[in-house]
Amino acid sequence: MAPPSTNVLTAPLQKQILPNPRVPGRSENLPPSDKLQLFKPIDLGDGLVLKNRLCFAPCTRRRCSDIPHYVPEPFVGEYYAQRASCGLLISEATNISHHGVGSHSTPGIWSEEQVARWTEIVQEVHASKGVFFCQLWHTGRQSHSYFQPGNEPPLAPSAVRPKLRKFVKPYGMVEVETPKKMTLDDIKEAIEEYRHAAANAKKAGFDGVELHGANGYIVDQFLQDVTNKREQPDPYSFYPLENRLRFLREALEAILTVYPPNRVGVRFSPFGHAGDMQDASVPLTQETFKAAIALCTELKLAYVHLVEPPNQRAPDHIAGNKEQTFDPESLGLDQFLSVAKGSSTLRMTCGYKTRDRAAIDVEDERAELVAVGQFFISNPDLVDRYYNDFELTPWDHDYFYNPDRNGYTNYPTYGMIKQAGLSPTSPTEELLNCGTKGWHAKNEK
Ligand SMILES: Cc1cc2nc3c(=O)[nH]c(=O)nc-3n(C[C@H](O)[C@H](O)[C@H](O)COP(=O)(O)O)c2cc1C
Repeated sequence: MAPPSTNVLTAPLQKQILPNPRVPGRSENLPPSDKLQLFKPIDLGDGLVLKNRLCFAPCTRRRCSDIPHYVPEPFVGEYYAQRASCGLLISEATNISHHGVGSHSTPGIWSEEQVARWTEIVQEVHASKGVFFCQLWHTGRQSHSYFQPGNEPPLAPSAVRPKLRKFVKPYGMVEVETPKKMTLDDIKEAIEEYRHAAANAKKAGFDGVELHGANGYIVDQFLQDVTNKREQPDPYSFYPLENRLRFLREALEAILTVYPPNRVGVRFSPFGHAGDMQDASVPLTQETFKAAIALCTELKLAYVHLVEPPNQRAPDHIAGNKEQTFDPESLGLDQFLSVAKGSSTLRMTCGYKTRDRAAIDVEDERAELVAVGQFFISNPDLVDRYYNDFELTPWDHDYFYNPDRNGYTNYPTYGMIKQAGLSPTSPTEELLNCGTKGWHAKNEK
């Protein structure tokens, strides 16, 4: 999980976001929707066709039971099914094992009980003709001993404590502890946990999986110098490059014993700040992530999913204040996207993709797929709204993590809003009431 950087999108600013920001100089030159590649299907191979290029980005929503079960609530399937008109739904980050857990009420996929619930959820998504990948998650040093087996310290490549605070129910907000440096046996076990989780995802019926290699979690921790202080002859040392990629490679190879490559994606966030990763040096980040993406193409994976650096997702009308120091040549995603260009591995971008930004990424062949998080949370019919260029409902942070259905399964579609005589930017409570009635009526039919 990685809520967007609050220095860019603070709560008061969210309320000011224009519903459909335009990209100056480009929006007016875009073809009509029926000509946009964004809305055209794409084939992932062996009969897996995505009906359009828009994807639901992985979004932790905490609608799950807590310790020790970590089972999604029964209504989670309804939420994903409501969004099944996109090409690909990527699940919220899903813990591969008890060791992987790093926060309250996030789902797991290691136990029979979890698999049973995921099976029902996937069936609901498939009944709505959605394609659904499970995001596989191990939080590494971003966990807390409270969540760990035997209340041991969390596991990480090196014993480097992140400057992070975390909510742990019995204690409130606490500093994250120094993790335990993983032994070679710990690493072997974690790789096996990826295999087991992938096998369970397959058992539950997921069409594929996405390895979470972004936002400062365990895969990222092995890849970056701030978190990987291991030294040779350790096979997972930061130097040489091959060693820092080893954990990623082995996790992927384990997953690939379960799913074929065209059903496996990976997410990276080069230059992302989440998880206290901001200290990595620019040339090292460039070297590492270009090689990591090349590895994905070598393994013929379905896609690499790259998160735009935080400043780039600033809405256009506030970006002027924030992008002074941003140098897209050295810190932008294009250098990484170009590594996969022309390979069988598709490129997916994510980060404040309004309709026009999403369309431009695909039209300009910057990416084949585009993922949207927050706008998809508040606009379940996002594909329709983007196609018709309808006004969007702004997301409301207050409903991201509450444990119930409110702000989860009751964001209304554009049609429901109009029928109720409201506007997409009406107060959230009014919209959610309208959605509760609208979805109820729709489900009754
Ligand atoms: C509530 C929330 C939960 C998130 N959870 C995850 C997650 O589980 N896994 C992940 O890789 N990213 C997670 N993210 C990051 C999003 O996938 C996405 O990268 C980010 O929101 C930027 O895209 P957007 O501007 O379209 O929202 C989360 C973001 C939000 C707002």
